[in-house]
Amino acid sequence: MSKEAEMENSEGAEAIAFGEEQEAPVVNSWNAMKQHAAETSVLDRIFEIAPSATQLFSFLRDADVPLDKNPKLKAHAMAVFTMACESAAQLRKTGKVAVRETSLKKLGATHMNSGVIEEHFEVTYSHKSPEKTIKDAVPEMWCPAMKDAWGQAYDHLAAAMKEEMKLLSASV
Ligand code: HEM
Repeated sequence: MSKEAEMENSEGAEAIAFGEEQEAPVVNSWNAMKQHAAETSVLDRIFEIAPSATQLFSFLRDADVPLDKNPKLKAHAMAVFTMACESAAQLRKTGKVAVRETSLKKLGATHMNSGVIEEHFEVTYSHKSPEKTIKDAVPEMWCPAMKDAWGQAYDHLAAAMKEEMKLLSASV
């Protein structure tokens, strides 16, 4: 087992081994695509995979703007990718996703109250979507290691959010 994997994180769970060779492709591809990501619909894949999820977003229910032009939806997609990228850096440094506890609680509550369920995290952004999105945006940088690193960064962030949602639903 690597030194990183042996470390214990502050919650007592075993630290996740996530090296510089995994952080770098995530951070580099995000830096290369994030400027034009805001101007194009490149990030808005969520509803190709789960069309019914539109109903969960309050700002989409009565919107007359096409999905790919909706600035709030774009902001959500940007938040997902930005936070996954930050998670890659945190995983490399500390072996865990360290979204500040209060933010994570708030995020967990927002998602739970909006009707988001665990499965949405699997079908929406995980694997399929980052792969398509990033591959389309920066095809010259794309490689299997990049796919794996993005997948892991997203999955650990989603796991932290799902855990908060689980704790919240157990306490109501
Ligand atoms: C790691 C993955 C995700 C991240 C980092 C994330 C991030 C965020 C953020 C920052 C907000 C705004 C929170 C606030 O205003 O308090 C938000 C709201 C929301 N998210 Fe996510 N999200 C993720 C995944 C998802 C998924 C998979 C869905 C499922 C469809 C989803 C649906 C929503 C909805 C419905 C809202 C509330 C929007 C509204 O009506 O104002 N999110 N999310």
